[in-house]
Amino acid sequence: MEFQFDVNEYFKKPIVEIRNTLLPPDFAGDRRSLWNTVNRVAEIVNEMGEASAHAQGLTKPITTADRLRQSDQTLYFLVDQNANNGFGSVTGMLKVGKKGLYVFDQEGQHYKVNPPCVLDFYVHEKHQRNGLGKQLFEHMLKKENVTPYNLAIDRPSDKFLNFLNKHYNLSSPIKQMNNYVVFEKFFDSSGNDGENEVEQSPSTRSNGLQGASPNYGRYGAPRPPCSMGQIIHNATPVLQKGRETTRAQ
Ligand code: ACO
Repeated sequence: MEFQFDVNEYFKKPIVEIRNTLLPPDFAGDRRSLWNTVNRVAEIVNEMGEASAHAQGLTKPITTADRLRQSDQTLYFLVDQNANNGFGSVTGMLKVGKKGLYVFDQEGQHYKVNPPCVLDFYVHEKHQRNGLGKQLFEHMLKKENVTPYNLAIDRPSDKFLNFLNKHYNLSSPIKQMNNYVVFEKFFDSSGNDGENEVEQSPSTRSNGLQGASPNYGRYGAPRPPCSMGQIIHNATPVLQKGRETTRAQ
C-alpha cells in the first residue's frame, strides 16, 4: 500500500514493530517530529487495518491506531523500501498479542490459557502468494520466541489455514467456542520442536498452558469425559457405566 508521504522516513527497516506508543523502535527526534511520526504511523495502521478487514469481509477493522494505543499488542509491518519511486510502500501487517482464553482439547478437557495469539494478518492483494506472508510470520515467530503451534489464532480465514498447513504442516484445526483455533500440538507437553529455545517451566508453557494436571492427589483421579467438550467437537459422548447420564448425553 502506497501513501502520500515517504514511508521510508518513518519505517527504516524491511520489518518494523509498532506497539502502543505508535513509534518505530529506532525513533529519535524532538517533540514536533514525535507528533508527526505518531500521526503518520496512525495513518498507516488505520489504512492497513481497513484493507485487512476488507480482505477478510469484515464490516469493521480489527486493527486501528486507537485500539493499538490501548493495548499491549504488537504490530509487525512489512515494508518494500524500493517501491513508490523510493518512497516505500507497506506490503503486509501481522498483529499478535496475549489473550486469556479457555480452550478445549480434542478430548474435551478444558484449560485456562494465556497464549500468544495471531489477531490480524494481511498481505496486500498485489503481493499475496509470493512468500511475503511467510517472511513476516517467520520474523514474528523469532521475535516472540514461539513456535506456530504455541499460537492461538483468532477466527482464521481459509487462506490463513491453508498457509499454516502449507508452511508449518498444521492441519485439523481445533475450533473453539470463542472462535479461536488451536492445533493438536498446542496441548502437547513438549509443544516445542527445539528449533527455538523456549524455556518451559513444568507449570506454565510458552503458550500459557497451565501445566498438565499432575498425576497425583485429587488432580490425578480419573475424570469423566467432559460432555460440553464432546458437544463442541461433535464427538459421540462416551457413556460410562455407573455414571450419571446428563441431558446433553
Ligand atoms: N487461496 C488459498 N490459499 C492461499 C491464498 C488463496 N487466495 N493465498 C494464500 N494462501 C495460502 C496458500 O497455502 C499459499 O500457498 P500456495 O500458493 O502454494 O497455495 C500460501 O498461503 C502462500 O504463502 P505466502 O505467499 O507466504 O502467503 P501470503 O503472502 O499470501 O500471505 C495471507 C498469507 C496473509 C493469509 C494472505 O493471503 C492474505 O492477506 N489473505 C487475505 C487476508 C486474510 O485472509 N488474512 C488472515 C485472516 S485471519 C487472521 O488474521 C487471524
